[in-house]
Amino acid sequence: MNARHFTYWVTALLVIPFSLGAQSHDASVGNHKIHLYAAADFGINAEAVTFTKDIAPIFQRSCQDCHRVGGGAPMPLTTYEEVRRLAPRIKYRTAIRDRMGAMPPFFVEKDIGIHEFKNDPSLSDEELAKIQAWADNGAPEGDPADMPEQREFPESETWTIGEPDLVLSSREVTIPAIGPDWWGDIGLVPTGLTEDRYVKAVQVREVNDIPAEATSSTVGGRYMWHHMTYTSGALSEDETELVGRTTSWPIHEVGRNADIFPEKAGRILPANSALRLGAAHLHSNGRESKGYLEFGFKFFPEGYSPEYTRRGARLGNGIDIDVKPNQANQEFHSYAVLDEHTKIIAFEPHLHAPGVRMCIEAIWGHNQLTLNCVGYDHNWVKQYVYEDDAAPLLPKGTILHVIGFVDTTTDNQNIADARNWAGGGRRSVSNMFIDLGYSVELTEEQFQLEMAERRAKMKSRNEYDVGCPLCWAPVVPVTEEDASRPRGNR
Ligand code: HEC
Repeated sequence: MNARHFTYWVTALLVIPFSLGAQSHDASVGNHKIHLYAAADFGINAEAVTFTKDIAPIFQRSCQDCHRVGGGAPMPLTTYEEVRRLAPRIKYRTAIRDRMGAMPPFFVEKDIGIHEFKNDPSLSDEELAKIQAWADNGAPEGDPADMPEQREFPESETWTIGEPDLVLSSREVTIPAIGPDWWGDIGLVPTGLTEDRYVKAVQVREVNDIPAEATSSTVGGRYMWHHMTYTSGALSEDETELVGRTTSWPIHEVGRNADIFPEKAGRILPANSALRLGAAHLHSNGRESKGYLEFGFKFFPEGYSPEYTRRGARLGNGIDIDVKPNQANQEFHSYAVLDEHTKIIAFEPHLHAPGVRMCIEAIWGHNQLTLNCVGYDHNWVKQYVYEDDAAPLLPKGTILHVIGFVDTTTDNQNIADARNWAGGGRRSVSNMFIDLGYSVELTEEQFQLEMAERRAKMKSRNEYDVGCPLCWAPVVPVTEEDASRPRGNR
C-alpha cells in the first residue's frame, strides 16, 4: 500500500481521534533491527542475482556520487574488484536503512508518512532484497557483458547548479595546523547588484590550498569550514552594516548540496546589497591551510517576483533541553500553531551528537497526522525537500508538532561520554533541537488552488493524502445557507 494514499478503511478511522504512533516507537540505537527481505517475495531467484546485471545499476544510481575516485566517500564502488570484498559490509550498511550508519545516508522511515522527496537516493525493498541475496550468495560477478557502462563524472570543481549568474567570494582566511575551533564573523561581501534580483539556486563551495592528493581519514581533513551561517540585505550608506530587512540563506555545511528554491518562492538579493558572513565555524585540520568560500547564485529572469511568501518561524526549542546521561528514547517536543495556510517545502531535523530521530506531525481538528519520521546521524546533516506535488498543504490553525529523540547510551557512537548530562548550546557535545526546514505561506486563493491541483491527481475519493487534511473537505461554503451551518455539517 502506498502510505501516502490510504485506502478507504483507513479513511474511516480518521473520524476518531488517533495518532499514527510516532511517539510509541522505540528509537534507541541498540534496539534498531536491520531491514531484511527475501528475494522470493519479489519473485526474484536469489541464486541468479549478479553484480553486473542487478547490483551495479543500483550502485551507479545511489552510491557513486560519493563512492568513486575523487568523491567524498573513503572507497570507490564502481568495479567488481572494488565491491566484492565489501559485500557483507554493504549488505549490513544498506539494511540499516533509516538510522545512523545507513547507506546511502538518507534516513526517511518508509513505513510512515510522505514518501516523495527530491533527489532521493534511497533503496527500495526490492533493491535491498537483491543486495542481500547477492551478498549471501558469495557476491557473484555474473556475465561481464551485462555490466552497464561506467558513469561519467564531471570534474569536482564544476557547479552543480550550472554556471552561476553571480559568484561572490569571502575574504581569505588562514587556520593553524592545530588549534581550537574558531567561531565568528568574517565580514561583509558586497553583491555589486544595481537592481533587485531573485535567486533560483545557490551553491557554496570552499576553495582551499589543501593538496588533492593529501590523504585524510576524515572528511573534515579536506576542509576548513565546518559551517557558515549567512544573511543578506541592503548595505548602509557607509557600507559597514546591513540595514532594513535581511534574508537568511541555507547554512553552508561541509558536504551539503546546492539549494534550489521553488519556482514560486525565489529569495531576494536587493540592489546595493551585501552578504553578511556572520557566523563562520572554522576547524583546524592538521595542516596550516588558507582558503575562502565562493557563493554561486543563479537568478530568476529580470522582472520575476515571487508569488509565495516564505515563512520564517522555525520549530524547536533550544533553551529547555535537558539531556540525561546514559539513557535511550529521551524525547523533546515543540509545538507551533500555523497562523496562515502553509506549504512545507523542506524538513530538516537538526539535533546534535545524541540525536537519533525526529518526527513532524500535523494536528488538525482531532486528527494527529505523522507527516514524516526520519532517523538522525550527526555525521550527516540532511535536508529533505518534498516533491512539489507531495509537500504538506496545511490549513491555518494546524498545530505543527516536532518530536526529537536522543540516545545517550554507549550504543550511540556519536556521543563523547555516556556519563555526561548536557543542556542546550552550540557545540556538538551540547544540544540543539530545531527543524531548520522552511515553508511558504499561501493566501486563501493559492491554498484552494494548490488543493485543487492535488485533488486532480488523486484517482478517487478513497485516496487520502496525509499531507493535505482538507483536500477532500468541501472547498468553500457554496451558498449563504451553507455558510450559516455549523462547520462540521457543510
Ligand atoms: C552522500 C555520500 C554517500 C553515498 C550516496 C553513499 N555513501 Fe557509503 N559512505 C560514505 C562515506 C562518507 C562513508 C564513510 C563514513 C561512514 O562510514 O559513515 C561511507 C561508508 C560506507 C561503507 C562502510 C565501509 C566500511 O569500512 O565498513 C559502506 C559499506 C558503504 N558506504 C556503502 C555504500 C553503498 C552500498 C551506497 C549506495 C547504496 C553508499 N554507500 C552511498 C558516503 C556515501
